[in-house]
Amino acid sequence: MSKDNKEFVRDFNEELVILSPGRINFIGEHTDYNNGFVLPTAIDKKVIFSFEKNGTDTQCKVYSATYDKILDFELNSLKPSDNEWENYILGVISELLKITDRVRGFNCIIKSELPIGAGVSSSAALECGLAFGLNKLFDLELPKITLVELSQRAEHNYVGTKCGIMDQFASIMSEEGKVILLDCMSQVHRLIAANFEPYKILLLNTNVSHNLASSEYNTRREECEEVVAIISSKYKNVRSLRDINKSILKEFKKELSPKLMQRASYVIEENGRVLQASESLEKGNLKRFGELMYQSHRGLQHQYEVSCKELDFLVDFSENKDQIIGSRMMGGGFGGCTINLIHENSIDDYVSTVKKAYKDRFKIDLTSFITVPSQGTSIRK
Ligand code: GLA
Repeated sequence: MSKDNKEFVRDFNEELVILSPGRINFIGEHTDYNNGFVLPTAIDKKVIFSFEKNGTDTQCKVYSATYDKILDFELNSLKPSDNEWENYILGVISELLKITDRVRGFNCIIKSELPIGAGVSSSAALECGLAFGLNKLFDLELPKITLVELSQRAEHNYVGTKCGIMDQFASIMSEEGKVILLDCMSQVHRLIAANFEPYKILLLNTNVSHNLASSEYNTRREECEEVVAIISSKYKNVRSLRDINKSILKEFKKELSPKLMQRASYVIEENGRVLQASESLEKGNLKRFGELMYQSHRGLQHQYEVSCKELDFLVDFSENKDQIIGSRMMGGGFGGCTINLIHENSIDDYVSTVKKAYKDRFKIDLTSFITVPSQGTSIRK
């Protein structure tokens, strides 16, 4: 650590500590920005923020332990940076300043337990923790949903990823031991008990993050919008893929390219799977829940085309093994983690076998962790 950074940390007078978790998503991928359904929850790994007011009107310093860097800025002259992590911070501040004039100079220290680029949404954890913390530090009294939405806008406007609302919603709204069934159209959500016993949630991190992720993400979003634009020229009340079913889609077979047909079919089917999966979970039918996870992966692999060979390898590897009842890629795709439901007695054996196979095949170390559905962004007591 540089001398300046050491001094900053040493002299810090902690007033408030915020814990902001990453998230997993059991099923419902690339459905959020199509006004569809998702089934995420927060995890027990998090970003930890310490805050202090510094008595100035506009000066702010944010220290990232991950990068060992201090981001220094003034509230009245914000502009995007060339460093991605800085844009998550600056983006949140910029969105906050659009809706309140009560933010003043502050200092902040950020430490993270979340792997970056692993599909567990370290970015939403960063945005939401900062928004949540400043809301408390300056008594802004903004409701949680406002923090969710402004964090999402920060990512659109400063980072440039046109993400949906799932990650920020899960990071802030989750509750321990529950999963969230979220309707991204109405934002109505229901908490469902995460009863997976005797199975545990295993994340396998490919440790690859293909640089297609951000550009292809926005392309997928545009493809979906193109389908909606074509269909709404006849059906005026169609505003998103949520308003379309398979029979409407078929009517447009001539107007839509095979690729667009595939994308839309995937989204319609995935929305159906989320509803079936939540019902299966509530009824304790974990086998069915797991089958739907596999189906989701195959849709993402073949129809939506956002998987990659490393993720496919892990899902293929698990498929006929009794101890794993469900497995799929998670998050935006092109790398990151698979989420797996694995029997609690088989974790060590399976993890060592799959790590070896993965290393043999790709010459990359696979990392793994077991996680549990956890509390959303909160103040450390
Ligand atoms: C990323 C985005 C989310 C969502 C997922 C895919 O995590 O931030 O909004 O679209 O990809 O389901």
